[in-house]
Amino acid sequence: MNRRFYLICVMALSLAACQAEEPTSPHEKTTPMSQSSSAAASTVAVTKPIEHNAAQNLQANMAKAKAKAEAEAEAVQVIENAKVVVTEKTAEASKAVETAKVVVAEKVTQASKATETVKTIVVEKAAQASKAAETAKVAVAEKATQVAATVKTVVTEKMAAVSKPAAALKPAATVKNSELTMPAVVANPATHIVTATNTQTGDAVKGKALARKCMACHAFTDKKKMGPGLKAIMGRKAGSMTGMKYSEALASGNWSWNETNLGSWLCNSKTAVKELTGDAKAKTKMPAQRICDADKQADMIAFLKTL
Ligand code: HEC
Repeated sequence: MNRRFYLICVMALSLAACQAEEPTSPHEKTTPMSQSSSAAASTVAVTKPIEHNAAQNLQANMAKAKAKAEAEAEAVQVIENAKVVVTEKTAEASKAVETAKVVVAEKVTQASKATETVKTIVVEKAAQASKAAETAKVAVAEKATQVAATVKTVVTEKMAAVSKPAAALKPAATVKNSELTMPAVVANPATHIVTATNTQTGDAVKGKALARKCMACHAFTDKKKMGPGLKAIMGRKAGSMTGMKYSEALASGNWSWNETNLGSWLCNSKTAVKELTGDAKAKTKMPAQRICDADKQADMIAFLKTL
């Protein structure tokens, strides 16, 4: 029980007891209770309302005390509730702080992870780029070799072609300048011509063996396969086989096939088509065959001439 309430109760009880004991009239005091029955009755009659009053007072006091105690208890409860609420809120707040910490930690981890990923990507890209650069170098080197080979072939052919008339002309020039050298050169003109012809003539048998790699796409008849039939290709106008679906470059080509342009075509059709059309963007459907060696080209051409 509440201590204050207890005290109040004790006080109220003792007050009630005092009131109950206190004599209400002098008459009563002088009269012993056992002596007269009428006196006893009157004592009872007087005492009764007093007791009643005291009981009422006691009740009232108790009610007041109870109310006060209840109010106090309520206040205490309110305080307790408030405490609980405060404790809860504090707990919630610290929880929220914890959660926030966790979230921040996660975000930091994510951010550093993202940084790592970006680093990795950058490194990869750099590796790719350097690889691409390497590939490009190799491609350039290859192209350079091819072009050099083609140029060499063309130059060799041109020189061979030029050397023929030059050889023929030389004696005439020499004759003018010095009569003395003339007989030596003129004596054997056939030698010059024969030599020149020999460099132009390849071995058709070797060429036929080489031409096996063309057979995947070409027939050596007038039938088309993936590529046009190669029958009578020497001297034939480019892109002129009927029923063949040529690339635009070949379909509109205005050259005829000879030793020179077929040589560069056999080495690299992709670059040759650009040179032959004079269009840097021209494309052919035929992949480069990489027959860039002048002797091999001569063999191949010798075979093609037989078709
Ligand atoms: C992978 C298939 C393929 C191979 C291998 C191939 N060619 Fe071709 N060739 C073609 C195609 C396709 C065309 C038509 C190109 C175009 O229309 O641009 C063609 C066109 C030609 C032409 C021009 C024909 C014309 O009518 O103007 C010649 C010449 C030629 N090829 C010779 C050869 C020779 C010789 C070989 C072997 C060393 C060879 N090709 C290997 C597919 C090939």
